[in-house]
Amino acid sequence: MFANLKADLRRNLRDYLPCGPLKRAALCLTLNSIHAVALIRLQQACARHHLPTIFAAKALFWLFKIEVSKQAVIGPGLRLPHPMGIIIAPNVVIGPDCDLYADVRLVLAHGMKQGPQLGAHVFMGDGAKAVGAVTIGDHAIIGVSAVVTKDIPANATAVGIPAKIIAENNQRNAEAP
Ligand SMILES: CC(C)(COP(=O)(O)OP(=O)(O)OC[C@H]1O[C@@H](n2cnc3c(N)ncnc32)[C@H](O)[C@@H]1OP(=O)(O)O)[C@@H](O)C(=O)NCCC(=O)NCCS
Repeated sequence: MFANLKADLRRNLRDYLPCGPLKRAALCLTLNSIHAVALIRLQQACARHHLPTIFAAKALFWLFKIEVSKQAVIGPGLRLPHPMGIIIAPNVVIGPDCDLYADVRLVLAHGMKQGPQLGAHVFMGDGAKAVGAVTIGDHAIIGVSAVVTKDIPANATAVGIPAKIIAENNQRNAEAP
């Protein structure tokens, strides 16, 4: 839990660098993304240690209307810049350093057990959704309100319903915040 949380904090604070310990502490107390991500990590740590997850899960739901399955695998460096209405279903895989904006849904298709798999540094814009066992490659950008129903290759930008690729080599790279 702590290794992931440390990476989450580092990434969430990156926009505000350079900042001293006081400003860092103030940001930790005020940034919604950090609070939501910390609750997700707490829920996952409870699940891993066979402790009740209900308290963290309810806090996530009541405060942010976020629901995350215990069976989701979430890499380090997660950012949720506007943490509201996010749903992450069982067997979803989220790679390191991903950004999920408000109302992102990563959900199972009817009758399927495998959820969407996101690579590293994937950006899912406001209201973007991925349905079923789709793979979204590293550094992909999924636009506002897009619905991904087919695999999206690395570095592609996809928009619309169903999501169509509008760029194949976007500029989002490992150094992007
Ligand atoms: C996907 C996105 C990154 C594309 O940005 P871009 O590369 O600058 O693309 P453009 O704005 O030049 O648009 C290219 C085309 O895609 C269309 N398009 C862009 N975003 C779209 C979207 N979300 N849904 C449908 N079509 C979209 C444009 O209308 C344009 O179509 P045209 O070529 O027929 O005129 C951007 O539109 C987006 O959705 N960003 C996410 C914003 C977000 O979630 N912010 C959260 C913080 S508040």
